[in-house]
Amino acid sequence: MKGIVLAGGNGTRLYPLTRLLSKQMLPVYDKPMIHYPISTLMQAGIREILLISTPHHIGSFKTLLGDGSSFGVHLEYAVQPKPEGLAQALIIGEDFICGEHSALILGDNLFYGQELPAKLQRAAALKSGAVIFGVPVSDPQRYGIIEIDPAGHVRTIEEKPAAPRSRIAVPGLYFYDGQAAEIAKQVRPSARGELEITSVNRAYLERGLLHAEMLDKDCACFDMGTFDSLLAAGQFVRERQIETGIRVGDPAETAIQNGWLEENAEGT
Ligand code: DAU
Repeated sequence: MKGIVLAGGNGTRLYPLTRLLSKQMLPVYDKPMIHYPISTLMQAGIREILLISTPHHIGSFKTLLGDGSSFGVHLEYAVQPKPEGLAQALIIGEDFICGEHSALILGDNLFYGQELPAKLQRAAALKSGAVIFGVPVSDPQRYGIIEIDPAGHVRTIEEKPAAPRSRIAVPGLYFYDGQAAEIAKQVRPSARGELEITSVNRAYLERGLLHAEMLDKDCACFDMGTFDSLLAAGQFVRERQIETGIRVGDPAETAIQNGWLEENAEGT
């Protein structure tokens, strides 16, 4: 399975912090934000990762992360010329994915939980279709929202609905079979002019191939796109690290846990 981290966008909600720096380079307690989604993909067992960012910022990601060998992974880079939608990542990444299964994660999403690695590895083992996650939220108008029937099947999926049918949001982590790039290429821009990832997920739903897993109460999930959520994520990481003595969202530590690097390897 291949992994894609989408780390572009203008980050305007975080101006002036993001006038110079990419949002995904901002510190989240003791690491750059981008470390967290990379570590999440690694927890799913993914070692081949494509990082997509803006023409302006891609160079600083290369400087920070290199070829990924200090994390025991292989990193490649691609540019998204303009932020034309999350689904575009699958089109930009088509050659990299090369018909294999893939996982897409947003560069500003943080996932944490004791049971999370096992859940991610189950999602990564999908045979066909797509796996998304569900998290209860208090502000459903801000997210992709799913409605689930009593048997646990997804009934509807909508992007930022004005009248939400549920409070179950879809966070920015998606697992797909080899059809994802083809499906993304069929998507037409939404009313806000973007190729929505929700449209890709709806195409899987219409084929009866969209699976949703609820993230348990002990799973935390942050989208770090506002000042408050950025601060809350940093405080959360600090508290978990103090409580458990284990570094959160650290790719080097994940590599050691996965047996991809020795404990005393360079870069750890
Ligand atoms: O956070 C989860 C939500 O992310 C999902 O529930 C929604 O279904 C999904 O559309 C997305 O909604 P957002 O409104 O939060 O997406 P936003 O436009 O803020 O983009 C998310 C991140 O991706 C952000 O860091 C910027 C980056 N991005 C965005 C676009 C549109 C890109 O790198 N390229 C893009 O073209």
